[in-house]
Order: sequence, then C-alpha cells, then structure tokens
Amino acid sequence: MSKTKPTKRKLINKMNDLSNRDWLKFQKSWFVHNPPPRRKDVLRHPAKFPETLVQEFIEFFTKAGQNVLDPMVGTGSTLVAALRSGRNSYGIELNPEYARIAQDVVGEERVSLGKDAHNLVAEVINANAKGAAGFDLPLIDYVITSPPYWNMLKARGAETQKKRRAAPDLDITYSDDPEDLGNMDDYENFMQNLVAIYAGLKPLLRERAYLTIIVKNVKKGGVIYPLAWDLARQLGETYTLKDEKIWCQDNIRLAPYGMGNAWVSNTFHHYCLQFRNEG
Ligand SMILES: C[S@@+](CC[C@H](N)C(=O)[O-])C[C@H]1O[C@@H](n2cnc3c(N)ncnc32)[C@H](O)[C@@H]1O
Repeated sequence: MSKTKPTKRKLINKMNDLSNRDWLKFQKSWFVHNPPPRRKDVLRHPAKFPETLVQEFIEFFTKAGQNVLDPMVGTGSTLVAALRSGRNSYGIELNPEYARIAQDVVGEERVSLGKDAHNLVAEVINANAKGAAGFDLPLIDYVITSPPYWNMLKARGAETQKKRRAAPDLDITYSDDPEDLGNMDDYENFMQNLVAIYAGLKPLLRERAYLTIIVKNVKKGGVIYPLAWDLARQLGETYTLKDEKIWCQDNIRLAPYGMGNAWVSNTFHHYCLQFRNEG
C-alpha cells in the first residue's frame, strides 16, 4: 500500500497579524515591563500604563484596522498605542482635564506618524463610562483598560504619592467627582459600580471579542482586598474569564514594610485579566 505524505496545512491566523514566533512569545503567562520615563504632559495623571505595553496587547488581540475601546482612557495611552499599531480607537474619560490632555497627546502622535495615521480614528469622549452603551460607537473588537485601584490613591504612605505631594502640578487623586470610581470609599459599592461599567459594554462588543483589564489586589490597613480576584469572579458572570497574564516591574525601590514584625510584600505585579465575550 502506498503511503501518502500528510499535506502541510497553512495555518490561518484569524486573531492578529503576528508571525508564529511573535504569537508564541506573547503566550508566556508573565512578563517584565518597566515603564519608560513619562512625557511631561502626561505626568500630571497619577497612574497611567505604558503605551509600549498596551501596544503589545492590541497587536495580539486585533488585526490592523479593527476597533479598540478603553472606557477609562486617562491621558490617552491606549489611543496612542492603537494609532501606532494601525487600529481605530475610542477612549472614554470622566475627568475633563485628562480628556483634554488625551486629545493633545493623540494630536501630537498623529503629527509624528504622518500619513500612516491619516485614515485612523482615535476619539476621546469626555463622559462617564457607565453610559457607554448609549454612545454612538461602532462594533468594538477589543477592550483594554485599567480602572482606579479602588480608592488607593488616597492612601497615605505610598512612596509614589509622597513624591507627588511635594510637586504642586501633579495630581494625587483623579478628581473630586463622586462618579469617579476612585472616590467610592465603600469597597463593595466600588466593585458593584466597576463590574456594572464593564458588563454594560457588552452590547458594543463583537461576538468573541476579548477584554483585557489590568488590575492589582489592594492592601489597606493590614487587610487585603482582592480586587483582581473579585473582578475575575464577578465579571466572569458576564464574560468568560479566559486567563491572566502577570505584568511584573523590577525597577521599583524596595520599602521595608513590616520589617522585623510582619510579612508585607512589596507588590510589583499587576494582573492583566483576559475575558472573552462568548454566548
Ligand atoms: C488607572 S486610570 C487609567 C489610566 C490610563 N490607562 C492611562 O494610561 O492614562 C483610571 C482612569 O479612570 C477614570 N475614571 C474613574 N471613574 C470613571 C468613570 N466612571 N468613567 C470614566 N472614567 C473614569 C479616572 O479619571 C482615571 O483617569
């Protein structure tokens, strides 16, 4: 009997435009990313994520020309990353001053990208993300975002906050607006509002679109509030929780919390939670 050689089928990549090698590299469940120094105009914002990091996620979870949404876009990192990777993007931000900075940052990025960005949308919407489903947005292929880590910016003693207090032009908190999730002091109320905002995006999302939410568990007064884990469980009722990817930073100075007395970690990792809009 003659043996037929198995034919090598060409892999069709339905997710992104990456090579197999770059796909594989991204599959590792943790990574180290030390944010590069920030531009002066976005320094004012107390907690932004690096555009370089967001770009890697966008390029994994979308193809060129698709639509990315960040419902809490701060000073616009997601929009910048989307422009650089040739995707359309929409960012919602409650604080009008951050929304204005995001608009400026997007304008400058367009200038530096020139004709590569001409046909791309990068829109900032100054509003409360809880109304997102009512905004005139196209079908969204991917969400990447990071919420306020509860009211942690108000915590005294955090090293970064100490430095900020000494610099009058830098914000310590996001705003005084009671609709700002960072001002919701009751943890359960905060969680309820946070989950409602993300769940409320569902009508905007393409079937099988992914969402990446970058969060951290929070320590306060010797108690751990498992924000990342609570979010994974609670939002897992609306979207399918797929996985986590752990973002580690290794360029932060260690502080001697609890030394000689108790275990208190220097927490230099964030969870990038992956959900998928299935069913
Ligand atoms: C962790 S920051 C996001 C930073 C952003 N990823 C960046 O790189 O600039 C969270 C943002 O959520 C915004 N925010 C808080 N409550 C909001 C709400 N209800 N609707 C929209 N934005 C909100 C805050 O003003 C803040 O800018």
